[in-house]
Amino acid sequence: MTKKKEIPPQSGSANIGFTMRNAGLACVAVAALAGCARQPAANTDAATAWPSPTWPLPADPAIEKRVQELLSAMTLEEKVGQVIQGDISTVTPDDVRQYHLGSVLNGGGSAPGNDEFAEPAKWLALADAFYAASTDRSNGRSGIPVIWGTDAMHGHSNIIGTTLFPHNIGLGAAHDPALMRRIAAATAEQVRITGFDWTFAPTVTVPQDDRWGRTYEGYSEDPAVVASYAGVFVRGLQGDPGAADFLGPTHVISSVKHFIADGGTENGTDQGDAKISEQVLRDVHAAGYPPAIEAGVQTIMASYSSWNGVKNHGNRYLLTDVLKGRMHFGGFVVGDWNGHGQIPGCKPDNCAAAINAGLDMYMAPDSWKGLYTNLLAQVKDGTVPMARLDDAVSRILRVKLRAGLFEAGPPSKRPLAGEFDRLWSEDTRALAREAVRKSLVLLKNENGLLPLDPHSHVLVTGDGADNLGKQNGGWTITWQGTGLDNSRFPHGTSIWQGIRSAVTAAGGTAELSPTGSFRRKPDVAIVVFGEEPYAEMLGDRKVLALPIAQNAHLGILRKLQEQGIPVVSVLLSGRPLWMNRELNASRAFVAAWLPGTEGAGVADLLFRAPAGSAPRDFTGTLSYSWPRDASGKPLNAGQPDYSPLFALGYGLSYAKGGSVPALPEDAGVPDALINAGFFLEGGNAIAPWQLRAEGGAALRDEPVSDGVQQVGRRFVSRGGAVRIGLRGETPLDVQREANGDVLLMLRLRSGGTVPDDLWMSMACGEGCAGKLRLGPQLRKLPRGEWQTVGVPLKCFQAAGADMSRITEPMALGSDSPFDLALARVQLGTNPPVTLACP
Ligand code: BGC
Ligand code: BGC
Repeated sequence: MTKKKEIPPQSGSANIGFTMRNAGLACVAVAALAGCARQPAANTDAATAWPSPTWPLPADPAIEKRVQELLSAMTLEEKVGQVIQGDISTVTPDDVRQYHLGSVLNGGGSAPGNDEFAEPAKWLALADAFYAASTDRSNGRSGIPVIWGTDAMHGHSNIIGTTLFPHNIGLGAAHDPALMRRIAAATAEQVRITGFDWTFAPTVTVPQDDRWGRTYEGYSEDPAVVASYAGVFVRGLQGDPGAADFLGPTHVISSVKHFIADGGTENGTDQGDAKISEQVLRDVHAAGYPPAIEAGVQTIMASYSSWNGVKNHGNRYLLTDVLKGRMHFGGFVVGDWNGHGQIPGCKPDNCAAAINAGLDMYMAPDSWKGLYTNLLAQVKDGTVPMARLDDAVSRILRVKLRAGLFEAGPPSKRPLAGEFDRLWSEDTRALAREAVRKSLVLLKNENGLLPLDPHSHVLVTGDGADNLGKQNGGWTITWQGTGLDNSRFPHGTSIWQGIRSAVTAAGGTAELSPTGSFRRKPDVAIVVFGEEPYAEMLGDRKVLALPIAQNAHLGILRKLQEQGIPVVSVLLSGRPLWMNRELNASRAFVAAWLPGTEGAGVADLLFRAPAGSAPRDFTGTLSYSWPRDASGKPLNAGQPDYSPLFALGYGLSYAKGGSVPALPEDAGVPDALINAGFFLEGGNAIAPWQLRAEGGAALRDEPVSDGVQQVGRRFVSRGGAVRIGLRGETPLDVQREANGDVLLMLRLRSGGTVPDDLWMSMACGEGCAGKLRLGPQLRKLPRGEWQTVGVPLKCFQAAGADMSRITEPMALGSDSPFDLALARVQLGTNPPVTLACP
């Protein structure tokens, strides 16, 4: 399979006569526009033109008439409000009324009443409240219905109880466009049930560097796979353009994202810079857009990232000339979470350059109010041409009119609304389970170990076995998918639960043991392990290996192997990883990706189908190349030295062979790169960090063990100048994490003595630190129990730490006696206990 998709020059329908060569001129003609002068001309190394898909919705005279009527009735304030979207964490229905906001969203961390576990009914009630405020026509208001956008990324993934599908990386392995349509249609129904109109999906990124933390949001590194899914998925969400039910009450507005080359950034850095030619931009990263446009996708989200140093949110050439001009996109362009604020010269609440470049709706989650005031002034003084504002508003109104929102009535009165049981209906669960089966890729099956005989004694172990949080990954209920135990998935099935049902139904027995111990020697062991959940930013890695804190399964695998028990490994991950050690220690190995809530789909393929039922087998094949080492060096099927361990398209079945020769067990990269983001584990500092405990005779420092191994370290101070710190030579830049609700997380145990003056700090070199007095809060922790607590990085920042150069990510101390044990220190989100900034 090759990455290059040839696009003949000037293919597709007639267009406005645009060519690459004159693209730069577009800006010259409007050089007076703010932001335009910064835009570069198109690269000239691409001799062929961009694809030119057909927009399937010819101008509708009735809609155009309504748009004109509305435009002439709207005040300038109403027009400005229409192009702004705020987040429900800071926008109230009254704000929507007062500032005429065109849209609201719930970001990954936002929920009604700030409760991410709010019942579905609360979401629907809030949708009604926003709708009512927006359609209030008192005092001459135009009363334009608001649209609510949500990240229904793998099903309606913010809503508790909902059946969730495998993340896109797993769907890519299924190579089944028809299945995509059914999943999208089911997702649209789920979104409708809670009264929303719009999902920020599907992601049509084409990730080229798996170190990127959003790799799993992409179907494939192969543009052809992405192209084969993008259009059908949009059709599943929106319906077919021209059909009577297009954008009807069982469908929702779709947004393909993130335009463009979000998956092409250097080193896989989130929000980074894609330093690539225009040809690669077009042939690899644009692959999903023409089919989505031909499917009539109503919105496209701009990418945070840059192309050759220019932020996409401000790139007029790409947003206006290529996307709306050459590619005939007739919907509206929505920004990403304050993404406009990253354009040079812009701030989240002040950015004329974005709308002038072609952005139609600002995603201004918490910055909407200032943005509204500034944009109003900028239209009045001509910085933003009235014609551009009118165009943006018209595009938004057209989408709202096509979706029938003016006649739809309150969200709770629309079809499907409030049918909460359907969020986890039998049909949807069966569909999700089918998707899980189709997404699994069998990488090794020595001597035909699979399918297993269910009539046997099966040991199920590993920290992913009975762990729905891990099985679902990021963008699940919480933003990063962290902080979720199984009780947060009231209708989900863990992999263990699926295995237990399959085995007991066949008359076998199954035993669950998180540590790999067993009461009776098993015939076979299934070990489920993998990455802890993450989403954007926090999921970026320096290399493709599991950090030491997530490697407990290695000991289990080896022990089982020594005992002569055949092992099946099931990997949960958002990307291919260096797995040589695990492959060596397993007789069968399944890449299960992030399968979602229907864990039973895994058992469906591990075990022989029950007598009388249809035979089943693995059909999934890799849509990402599998690495030979942990370096993370991008593998590209087109490159001459392409040498993955398992190539694109690889995947075994029961019938098809299965052994893998013994693999080298050296990761080929320094541990410090593998463990980035972790500072201390099991009470030991993780290189390059060093633990320094200062206090002389006043301090006792002893290992804490669980009987088998050291799990932490206890510090008992008799009082005096005592200080414990984790230091390093090379400063760490956590500026972005600090701005994004990330916390310093500590797994600790209070010995009962915690003085008021106990402090904790993050330091940034000589004389630079943010020091917090945390004694009063830490003292409230139950004595003698391990607890994970988080301190927002923002607290340290506010107290004076320069987050761009942290040399000591954690220190603590006191002059008074204290007794504290530490197990782990890392960056993270959603700890069970969050301390407040003192
Ligand atoms: C992400 C988008 C998402 C948006 C709203 C952004 O940070 O990049 O993919 O749609 O947040 O949650
Ligand atoms: C998420 C929010 C989050 C923010 C942090 C957004 O993408 O959707 O929930 O708080 O990023 O920067």
